[in-house]
Amino acid sequence: MELTAVAVAKTSEIAKLKLKAFRVKGKQYVVVEYNGSFFCFDGICPHAEGPLAFAQVHGKYLYCSYHQAIFDVLTGKPLPGSPTDIPLKRYDVSVEEDVVYAKVPA
Ligand code: FES
Repeated sequence: MELTAVAVAKTSEIAKLKLKAFRVKGKQYVVVEYNGSFFCFDGICPHAEGPLAFAQVHGKYLYCSYHQAIFDVLTGKPLPGSPTDIPLKRYDVSVEEDVVYAKVPA
């Protein structure tokens, strides 16, 4: 499927919230900020399809609010002990003029 760079939000907004959920063609995604960098993932948890729009970000870890799977935002991989060993699907992110763009199927 073709990937298109989609404007998600301003860098300052995502940095403040740490996580921004968005939809493209009905599919959910999240962008997470860590240490000034931005990371885009599928917005549905691979464990039991919990929406990551309700996840929390602490440092470089994304905590699914459903059953507390913890994902490393640098790799998308769950930490040992999480209820899944399936990594989050990642998408490329770019920043242009203070706007974060995610390259997702569109
Ligand atoms: S749905 Fe995310 S941990 Fe279960």
